[in-house]
Order: sequence, then C-alpha cells, then structure tokens
Amino acid sequence: MFCDIVDSTRLAATLDLEALQRVIDAYQHQVAGCAARYDGFVAKFMGDGVLVYFGYPQAHEDDPERAVRAGLDIVAAMPSVRTIDGLELACRIGIASGVVVVGDSISVGAAAERSVLGETPNLAARLQAAAPRNGVIIAASTRALVGNLFNLEPIEPLALKGFGAGVPAWRAIAAHDDASRFRAIRDLTSAGFIGRDAELALALHRWGMASAGEGQLFLLSGEAGLGKSRLCEAMFSRIAAEPHAEIRLQCSPYHANSALYPVLRHLERTAGLAHDDSRAVRGAHFARLFPDATKAERAVTLLGPALGLQDAAPSDAAPAGSKAETLALLQDLLLAPAADEPLCILVEDAHWVDPTTQELLGLLIDRLGDRRVLLLITHRPEFTPPWGTPAHLTRLTINRLSARACAGLIGDLARGKAMPEEVVRQIVAKADGVPLFVEELTKTVLESGLLTEDADAWRLDGPLPPLAIPSSLHDSFMARLDRMAPVKEVAQVGAAIGREFSARLLAPVLDMNAATLDDALTQLVHAGLLVSRESEVYAFTHALTRDAAYASLLKSRRQICHQRIAAALEELDDGFTRATEPELLAYHFGEAGDFSAALAHWIAAGDVAERRSANEEAVAHYRSAQKLTESADLPAADRGRAAEVPMKLANAQMQTAGYHSEDVMQLYQQAQDTAVALDQQDQAAGAGIAMSAFLFGSGRHSDVLEIGNNILRRQLDRLRPETRVLLWVMLGSASCHIGDFRQSLDFSEKAIELDDEVNCTHKAPSAGADPAIVARDLVETASRVMGQLDRAAAVSEQSMAIALDRGNLFSIVWASVSRVLALTSLGRYAEAVACADHALAICEKHGFHSRIGNILQHRGPALFELGDEERGLADIQRGVTLWRERSGTFFLARNLAKLAEYQLRAYQLEQARASLGEAENVAETTEEKMHLAEIIRLRGLIWLAEGHREQARVCFERAIAQARDQGARLFELNAARDLAKLDLEAGDAGEALDQLRSIVDWFPAALDVPVLAECRALLR
Ligand SMILES: Nc1ncnc2c1ncn2[C@@H]1O[C@H](COP(=O)(O)OP(=O)(O)OP(=O)(O)O)[C@@H](O)[C@H]1O
Ligand SMILES: [Mg+2]
Repeated sequence: MFCDIVDSTRLAATLDLEALQRVIDAYQHQVAGCAARYDGFVAKFMGDGVLVYFGYPQAHEDDPERAVRAGLDIVAAMPSVRTIDGLELACRIGIASGVVVVGDSISVGAAAERSVLGETPNLAARLQAAAPRNGVIIAASTRALVGNLFNLEPIEPLALKGFGAGVPAWRAIAAHDDASRFRAIRDLTSAGFIGRDAELALALHRWGMASAGEGQLFLLSGEAGLGKSRLCEAMFSRIAAEPHAEIRLQCSPYHANSALYPVLRHLERTAGLAHDDSRAVRGAHFARLFPDATKAERAVTLLGPALGLQDAAPSDAAPAGSKAETLALLQDLLLAPAADEPLCILVEDAHWVDPTTQELLGLLIDRLGDRRVLLLITHRPEFTPPWGTPAHLTRLTINRLSARACAGLIGDLARGKAMPEEVVRQIVAKADGVPLFVEELTKTVLESGLLTEDADAWRLDGPLPPLAIPSSLHDSFMARLDRMAPVKEVAQVGAAIGREFSARLLAPVLDMNAATLDDALTQLVHAGLLVSRESEVYAFTHALTRDAAYASLLKSRRQICHQRIAAALEELDDGFTRATEPELLAYHFGEAGDFSAALAHWIAAGDVAERRSANEEAVAHYRSAQKLTESADLPAADRGRAAEVPMKLANAQMQTAGYHSEDVMQLYQQAQDTAVALDQQDQAAGAGIAMSAFLFGSGRHSDVLEIGNNILRRQLDRLRPETRVLLWVMLGSASCHIGDFRQSLDFSEKAIELDDEVNCTHKAPSAGADPAIVARDLVETASRVMGQLDRAAAVSEQSMAIALDRGNLFSIVWASVSRVLALTSLGRYAEAVACADHALAICEKHGFHSRIGNILQHRGPALFELGDEERGLADIQRGVTLWRERSGTFFLARNLAKLAEYQLRAYQLEQARASLGEAENVAETTEEKMHLAEIIRLRGLIWLAEGHREQARVCFERAIAQARDQGARLFELNAARDLAKLDLEAGDAGEALDQLRSIVDWFPAALDVPVLAECRALLR
C-alpha cells in the first residue's frame, strides 16, 4: 500500500516549517495507527509518502483484505488531520498485491527490510498517483483476492508509466460487513453440494429436534476450507421452505478483541442502521427492535455508545449498567424470535470470537433447554470450545472429502464438461481432499489458458506443468508458516526434501542437535503443518503446504539446501541411498545446480533400475540424464557423456518398446551422431551396430551395410577389438541376407579371425550370443549355400565344440541350430534330430523362448526325411509361426520357402501355393534375397504340379541363373536337377543332363550327400 498527501508542495509553501512538521507527524501517526490495526508493516516514510506491507513479516490468510481495510480507515481518519488554521489534509492511496522480495543485497538489517523488489510496489505507487482526493484505488490483483468483501467502483482504465495503457483499477468505497463471510468471499453458484450426506443428515436431525422444542447446541469443527460454512448453507437451503427464523453472528479476525462485535453487527443489520443516517434516525430504527419504549430506552443507554447512537460516556463516569444486564438484554433479544417459530442461530468462525460474545454464548447455551432453538457454532480446530459438555450438545468434526467427491467437485466447477484425466489427477493429488483447494486449483487451471473448451470437454493443448499454489491460497499457507517463525526453517528444509522426510536426514542438513530438532518438529505437528508418520518420519499435512514452504525459500537458499541434502544423503547409512536410489541424489544435485553430479547420478539411477529390470523407470532416469546433456548448464567436462546417454536410453527403451520401435532407432541414431561429433569412434560404432538390430528386424539390410561401411570409412583402428568383431558379424549377416554369400563369408571369417585372437566371448554379445558362435553360424550358412558342404559341416562342428567348452547355454543353442542345418544337408538326419532335441530341452528349461521356433523349423525337415512326414511338417509349420511372431520379417522369405517345399513334398499343393506366394512377396518387398533361387525353383515345381511344364522349365532356368549369380552352388544343383528331371520325363534331356553334370562335377567326387547321390543317379 502506498499512501501520499495531496498537494504537499503547496502545503510546504504555505506553512512554516514547524507547523508543517506537526501536521505531517499527525498524518504519519494516523497512517501508522491504521496500518498497525491490521498488522501492516510500515516500511518507509518518504517525506509525506508511506509504504506499508501486508503479509510481511507475518503473513495472514487475508492480507489483501487487511490492506484495503487499512486504506479505508486512513481515508476516514483524514478529517482529523488538520493544520492549525483548520485546513484539512487529504491523501491518496494505491494498493496492489503480489509476491515481492523484501530486502536487497546492499543494505543490511532493518534498512534491508525497508527495501522491496518486484513490480507490485511500483504499481501501488502509480495507482496512488492516479487516485482521487481521499480515494483508495486497488489493482486487479488485489480485487481478485478480496472477492465481494468491499463495495468497489470500477474506474476508467489507467495509462501508467511502466505498465502501459488500459490498466484496470477499482476504487474501494466501503467494507461490506456482511452477515456471512462465506457468502462475501465465495461464489455460491459455482458448484453443487458434494458428498457430506451423513453430516448434513445429522445437522438436519438436530434441527428437527430443536424445532420440536428440544433446544440443541451443535459444534461444527474443521480445518479452514473443509466446508463448514458450506455445510451450514446446505442445511439452511434444505429448511428454507419451513417457517423459521435465522440469526447469523459472524466473528471477525480484526475484532477478536472488540466486545460483542458479531452481536452488534447483527443488531445494526436487523435494525437497518446505516452509517450515514443521523443519530436520531439510527436511534429510532434501533428502538423498533424492542417491544416497549422503556425496554428500548434502556437498550439505547446500554448499547448506544457501541452502536454509535450516543457519544461514549467519559471514562471516569459511572457505568450506565452492569455487563450482566447488557448480556441479559442481548440474550432476550436473540432468543425472542423462538417464541413464534423455530430459530437457528449460526455463529460462524468462533475461533475469532471476542471474550464478551463468548460469555454471552455460554449464557445462551444454558437457556437452550426447552426452547425451539438450534445454536450452530462453526470453528477451526485451534479453538477449544469453553462451554463444557451440556446434555444437548452434538460435536461434529468434518474430514477431508474423498478423491471421488473431489473429482465430482472439479466436474461441477468445470461447468459439467469433462476435464482431462491428467488435470483431474493433479488437482486431486494437490488438494488432498480440501474442497477449498479443489476449487481454487480448478479455477486457476481454468483461467490459466492451458485448456481449451470444446462442446463437451476441456482439452489440454500442451503438457501440463506442475500446478502452482493459487494466489488466492498463497496468503493462507504463508500465514500458517509465518506463525511458526522460529521453526519455519525446519519446515522449509523439510519441504526441500519432499512431502515426506525423516528427521535423521533433516538433522545433518540443518546441523541441529536432536533435541532442538525434535522440539521444532513437535511444534510443527501441533500446529497442524506436519503429521508424524512412523518413527522419525514426518509428512506435510497438505501437498500445498509443502509447496508453500518450499516456495518461500529464495532460489539461492534453495540451492544450498539441496546441496546439503544431497551431501547428507550420500553419507547417510554408508551410502545406502547412493547404491539403491541414486535418482534421489540426482534430483537434489540437479536442484542444487550441481549438474555434473546430477548427470552421474541420473545415469547411475538408470543403471540400477535396468539391473532390476525396472525398464520404465530406467527409461525415465536416462531421460532426465538426457535432458541435462542437452542443457547449456552442463559443464564442458561432462559433455563427453552425451553419446552414452541416448545409447543407454535406447537399450532400456528397446526392452519396453521392442526391436521395432522407431523411437529406439532414433535414439541410436542420435547416439551415433553425437558420438561422431565428439569423435568417440567406438561409441559411434556401438550405436550403429545397435541400430542394426532394428534394421534387420524390418529387412533393411542395405541400410545396415551402409552403416557398417561408414564405420569402416571412419577410423577402424580406433575401435576396440570387441567392437570390430561385432562390426564384422553385422556386415556378414547383412551380406548373407541380401544373398551376397561371398562377401558374407569374407566378413564372417574376419570376425572369427579377430575373435580367435582377442577372445571376446561375452564381453560383447551379438544378439545375446557369443560372437564366435554367431560368426561361425554365418560361415556355415554361406559355405553350405555355396556348395562347400564339408566346410559347413566342419565349421558347425567346431562351433559346437567352442560353445560347449565355453558353456554358455544360449550360445550352445545357437551353435546347435547351425549344426542341425549342416547335419541335415549331409543326410545325417537322426543326428540332426538328436541335436535339435537337446537344444529344445535347454530352451524350455531356461526360458529361451525366442529360439524355440528356430529349432523346430529346422528339426522338421530332418524328421520328414526320416519318414515321419506328419511331425516333420508340423514342426516346420509351428516353427515358422513362432519365429515370425518374435522376429517379424527377419529370415521370413527363407522360412516360408522351406515350408512351401515340404508342403509340396507332402502333396499339400494348396498350402504350398499360399506359403510360396507369401515368400515371394517378402523377397520382393524386403531386401532378403538369400533364398531367391530356391523360391524361383519352387515356383517351377508348383507349375509342374499344376501341369504347366513350360512355365516350370522357365522357372528352373531362371533359378539356375539366379543361383549362379549369387555363387549359390547348392541352389544351382537343386534347380539343375529339377530341370533335368523335367526333360527326362519328356524324353529330351540331353542339354539339361550336360548342365547337371557340369555342376555335379564341380563338387568333390568324394562328397557323398543325398542331393548329390540323387543327381548322380539321374546322370547314370
Ligand atoms: N461439500 C461441498 N460441496 C461443494 N463445495 C464445497 C463443499 N464443501 C466446501 N465446498 C467449497 O469449498 C470452499 C470452502 O468451503 P467453506 O468456506 O465452507 O470452508 P470452511 O470450512 O467454512 O472454511 P473457513 O474455516 O475458512 O471458514 C467453498 O467455496 C465451498 O463452496
Ligand atoms: Mg467458513
């Protein structure tokens, strides 16, 4: 509040110095007196200007109201401030509300207290300058907080320096001394009455008893904002239709020491006494309250001075009557309506009752007995009713609303339109069942512009920021805290720890001895700010109280607090938190501004979560780490970790989102790019290799090759050997899939060679298996397809031996699959089946579900060849289904072709056609071309089965060409054999047999495998 004298320069010019000083003193004295009445703090007298704070050093729940009341009182007192020659002084007052910082960094002690930073004081000063003579002008910020407590007149929007044009402002005319504070502050129409059915029923029941002539005393207690007043209003509206009388006595926080304040205001209202009526008129109105003139005359004598009907008697005069007589008169007056009809007397907010009214109420309670009166008294828990426990007493303490009721209230306030779930969740969580908080938070959100209103719902347009404390509640929380001034710091530091904190952590942070701390915590519990949970653990009663305590710490203090909390946490219990909950440390270090430590702990938190397979948590922690690596605040020395974080994030996310997630792919990409930018070659290669899992899954083999080639072009010699082995494996695999078997063999052999040297085993697993095994698997495939069947068999045998030797079960399974394929191609079917059975048993026992499909689809052909066609085909079928569920299109063309081949052999033409059609489709749409020659050959067989010999021949020829092109001797042999058979049947096989002979002769004469035996028989 800013207050200044009108025309002070003229005054200075006309008055001599001494007279001027005297009148200024009188004025300042008035201002200081009025401010003090409402607990305002006079910060500065600047000549004739005065700056007053409300809410500092002690906050109250109603500081804005106090400021306006003080302003009106000052204006009202101005007529008494005159110069010697009778010239009346006038002043101007401006009031604005907002959060300010008191004190500056230069001044110390009292001087610092008197300076204030923020735009609020400037606005108050500007409004003051724009105010009319003896006018109180308030800003929109203040108006929003004082509700309907005052009679306000809007004035023309102002153009204020520093605030622009069109600044809205109001002139405060007078306070409404309403019968109900509740009605003055609250908008009754905003929401329906929710929940509280049992409470309302009880109140109505007691009203029923009272109406029937059994007078009742009903004490309704509950914390601020829980809905005491609302419950009373609900009761009144339920009985509105019954004939009855109502009296409302409203206690006031500013008049807790003004005798009979609520009763006198009640009398003024019922008698219709207006402040601007003459004494005579007021006296006449007052007299009407009494049945006869003698009573009225006596009442005027007793209450006249208090009601402004008479001057106060001089203090040395004999009292006009005893207090007992006044109280008796008032009792009669209050109870009188009950003679005609049931009466409800509501005393609101008894925690502010003045002693005389309290005494009067005691007397009334004694007289309720057989009167038709319900005396309903509301109060907050800090007030202990002094009226004993009479027989007709009912006490009711109302509790918090359920989460459901809160959600219902939000719905009502949102005008029945659905609110986004996230918003409701946050409001319910913050409001903790206090309807006032629900209301204010909801209004704040609705007014924030975060939501857009649709026809039947509110939509959230962006992310929902954490809800701040509504300004309407700010004062009330600060008041609660300020009342605890000596131990406030304990609450603030507790708040920095969180909604819940332990005394064991608090003690070292505050550097306080246990006894002092214990005492402070007990005080906070008694004040209702904290509840004590289990031993040494405390929690704030409201989420918003914690927010307020936290917000009351200046940023610089906050940082120090978090730093100390983090340091204490690191020490506590031998670093237990560091090992189990690094995220807590990360949070505090982050808030402390120690980003380097925060980063390290976020990463550690992700690692800990990952180890516990808490993948979602791991993702969240790594994300926090990532945010830090992207922030400009991170010290340069920590930038080196920027590539590691997305990599870890991607690995964790892969566990939750799967291999096919585009997000995961992007994270790897980001990790790779960052690592390249930081010249971390090994990291970059690692990210590229990780990306391949994703690309393989969607058949993008040439992308894998490109990544690999890029890595090769960068600095191969700077990669760790493990990374290089993985790189060769990756390239070998991609080459194999696109059908470049020679290239594949080349890469895979490099992998084997290097691995033999460095033996990386499981230091760097490839898709979970030992790279030594995976590389040999690739060699087996490529050399088999290229017709080097001996070599394929040898390498698979070696692979098996290595796997068994190293003992890793997953690798043993992997090697077994290779072995099964090699054995089958050699015609050693029974051994193949045994090997597959062994691998299956391991998978089932150890939960390697992903490998089961793979084993089955390779065991099938061996079983089939052994004569068990039915089981063989069933295995392949199930194997293919399982495999594709897990691995998408990876290897799908090959697998479907195999299935089609055996379906054909089992004379299931229809099914074979379907399987092959799909295989063709995959081979066409993805880059998986390794089995292309076989697919074309199988198409020929289908033509043949359908009787189209010509088309069949075309296919076989194409298959031969395709196989030659890829160096796939085994496939070439198959196709040449089928072509020869076709021509033999037609009796014209000369050319085809020559062609078959040349390919058969390419194979070593000593090689004796089923397919060669069949071909040699044909040639014979
Ligand atoms: N059951 C309810 N249904 C709907 N709104 C409610 C309910 N209870 C309380 N409210 C709303 O919550 C706000 C606070 O309630 P109220 O003013 O009655 O609290 P109080 O206990 O009287 O607080 P104080 O101690 O400050 O007087 C009001 O706006 C009121 O309308
Ligand atoms: Mg109330």
